[in-house]
Amino acid sequence: MFTLDLFGDLPRSIGERRQLGPGAWLLEGFALARAKALVEAVQAIEAQSPPRHLVTPGGFTMSVAMTNCGRLGWNSDLKGYRYGPLDPLSGQPWPPMPEVFVKLAHDAAEAAGYAAFDPDACLINSYAPGARLSLHQDKDEQDLAAPIVSVSLGLPAVFLFGGAHRSDPVERYSLQHGDVVVWGGEDRLRFHGVAPVKAGEHPLTGGRRLNLTFRKVNR
Ligand code: SIN
Ligand code: FE2
Repeated sequence: MFTLDLFGDLPRSIGERRQLGPGAWLLEGFALARAKALVEAVQAIEAQSPPRHLVTPGGFTMSVAMTNCGRLGWNSDLKGYRYGPLDPLSGQPWPPMPEVFVKLAHDAAEAAGYAAFDPDACLINSYAPGARLSLHQDKDEQDLAAPIVSVSLGLPAVFLFGGAHRSDPVERYSLQHGDVVVWGGEDRLRFHGVAPVKAGEHPLTGGRRLNLTFRKVNR
């Protein structure tokens, strides 16, 4: 473990593994060494399948802009939430998952105790200042045995980690550039969300926060 101060922020611990629950871990700085390659890969994906503000089944436009890569992508519209192989904007398959994504997701899952994680979907969230994600469960996946691997890049954010029920108390964790959160097992269906992102400037992502969530949708 060592600390470094890259962005004039508070000293940042790298390499700490904080246990957030029986099956949930915050791997501080786990993606840091690969962050530049990850951000460049996101930019290439966005050139093909641009981030867009989806509408929920309830008719609410999300403040987070989303795109996907991998065999399946997550989509929402007035008809519901679903995974599908095609980007509805282009009618083309979602861009393939870059090797640097596949490797990172596998390695982070393994570091959290989940062997052989092989995601078929990666949702890419883009947060401009003020964007937030309200409490939800990731439960549109068939394979609930596999964990969720969530990678934070760019501007920091506060991760809200609740319980099995929406009304359960919520813990707040600061997520910095390069942090990875993994939740599975008995924590797999915990409610979670992201507090409104504060304005700032990051050398790799400019004025936004990026988040990659890797999922195994099909068994
Ligand atoms: C998500 O729950 O899909 C994203 C979480 C995050 O942006 O940290
Ligand atoms: Fe989620």
